[in-house]
Amino acid sequence: MSGADLAVSRAAPEEAPIVANLMQFYIHDFSELWFDRAIEGELEPDGRFSDYPGLDAYWSDPTREAWLFRIKGRPVGFALVNDVAHSRTPVDRAVAEFFIVRKHRRRGVGLAAAHALFGTAWGVWEAAVVRRNVGALAFWRRAAQSYPGVRDVVEEDHDDALWNGAILRFRVG
Ligand SMILES: CC(C)(COP(=O)(O)OP(=O)(O)OC[C@H]1O[C@@H](n2cnc3c(N)ncnc32)[C@H](O)[C@@H]1OP(=O)(O)O)[C@@H](O)C(=O)NCCC(=O)NCCS
Repeated sequence: MSGADLAVSRAAPEEAPIVANLMQFYIHDFSELWFDRAIEGELEPDGRFSDYPGLDAYWSDPTREAWLFRIKGRPVGFALVNDVAHSRTPVDRAVAEFFIVRKHRRRGVGLAAAHALFGTAWGVWEAAVVRRNVGALAFWRRAAQSYPGVRDVVEEDHDDALWNGAILRFRVG
């Protein structure tokens, strides 16, 4: 299955549990990067990661959007998009979280999903990537470079109170 089979849609309020379920897998992936942190990345006694803070706001705050990615009707990933800049430069849209399930990785599904998101809003977009997430940085560079409507790509390296890692900013449209 490739990105060509992908369906990208806004997650409706009744689909919030699907996003929350996928979030568990996403946090599990990130927990590998948090091996040296005390509590972050630890499971709760019930065997789940604690709920993602503020997820509900993606269905009440008009600046926040949750997206679901599906192939043949089955969930293969999700994205949370908002307007919160990790640099001090305001942006129109920021990719807060973005995830493709492991089975479907490295087949262009992530690129197709990112490009579908870029197509939803013109303006300045941001993707901030934590320093240890080396593969994701390669992914976002590729996603920005390969979308026909993208220009003015800026990549900054931050190590401050707001962010530790790369911040990609680019204009869509
Ligand atoms: C990062 C992620 C979204 C990529 O999704 P994907 O569907 O595998 O991405 P694609 O197949 O569209 O990759 C497109 C290109 O991006 C680059 N890329 C993607 N994943 C990469 C990795 N792990 N290492 C290096 N380059 C990578 C490659 O250039 C790739 O092209 P190629 O496969 O022909 O070499 C996915 O690995 C994931 O969900 N990771 C865990 C969560 C995460 O880190 N999210 C990003 C938060 S900023």
